[in-house]
Amino acid sequence: MFNDIIRPRRLRTSLGLRKMMRETRLSTESLIWPIFIVEGENIYQEIPSLPGQYHYSPDQLYRAVERAQAHGISRLILFGLSKEKDEIGSGAWAEDGVVQQGLRQIRKLDPDMYLITDVCMCEYTSHGHCGILCGQEVDNDQTLLRLAEIAVSHARAGADMVAPSDMMDGRVAAIRKALDDNGFQNVPIMSYAAKFASSFYGPFRDAAGSAPAFGDRRSYQMDWHNSREAMRECALDVQEGADILMIKPAMSYLDLVFQCRQRFDLPVAAYAVSGEYAMMKAAAAQGLIDEYGVMCESAVSIFRAGADILITYYAPELADAIRKGDIG
Ligand code: PBG
Repeated sequence: MFNDIIRPRRLRTSLGLRKMMRETRLSTESLIWPIFIVEGENIYQEIPSLPGQYHYSPDQLYRAVERAQAHGISRLILFGLSKEKDEIGSGAWAEDGVVQQGLRQIRKLDPDMYLITDVCMCEYTSHGHCGILCGQEVDNDQTLLRLAEIAVSHARAGADMVAPSDMMDGRVAAIRKALDDNGFQNVPIMSYAAKFASSFYGPFRDAAGSAPAFGDRRSYQMDWHNSREAMRECALDVQEGADILMIKPAMSYLDLVFQCRQRFDLPVAAYAVSGEYAMMKAAAAQGLIDEYGVMCESAVSIFRAGADILITYYAPELADAIRKGDIG
């Protein structure tokens, strides 16, 4: 029966009131913007699969830094695309590797920019897999040694935080030990704890030239049928010393963001991946959706599910939406 006393609509009568009643608060401080660095000079090119995102050679990174600053973004996650690839992905830990160069460059441009690096091998291996191969299989423990080397080399070049995305077992412990042994006790690890073998990474792989040459990543990334296993992955990373747990992708995995928030005390990050962004861009370009509205709604849903941190290609535009008070 209609209850004449209880009227939830009372709290929706004006914009000011609705803003006061918001249960989810967003801050630009919680946003991380991904940046793609390519080897070479004078390269500043829009990425076809990710409209509005660019490939920057190290000398052009000032453009990314200026764009970030203009929107109040001060946290970046860096990805590198190397020209020379080999079986073991040695470009990933090279002293003058592309991410290492990028780190030094951005540090010069803006000493306060917080720089996170993606630690993985797929952008550096000739076969495009995230580790060292043994036959057709990625060898877990061989790969751990390399990942540790990559993380240390990023820290040496100035990374503030490292984010392993390879999904090898034991990588957080291996990276933690290597960082500590080399004097980087204070470099946190944001672990891609539950990262799924997702078709939503397609545009990223085009952007990073990192699609596997054969097979797929299902022997190391997670099967998207599984949520209990995702919590197990998170628990392992907690034990191994992760500082932040990440769920990836974000939008189709809000149940896991929620569960992760409930189960663990660590900060939870979510990565709204390339496919999520590209779908919105494509639908908007066709006039099928209101891009701004969908961008805002989907970002808020990720925080509402419990994320503390969001990695998103929309970081600059979301920062504007937050500043205008449209969200947060
Ligand atoms: C590297 C890596 C990938 C992404 C982040 N780090 C690709 C993959 O695992 O194939 C995907 C990011 C995105 O789609 O936006 N392993």
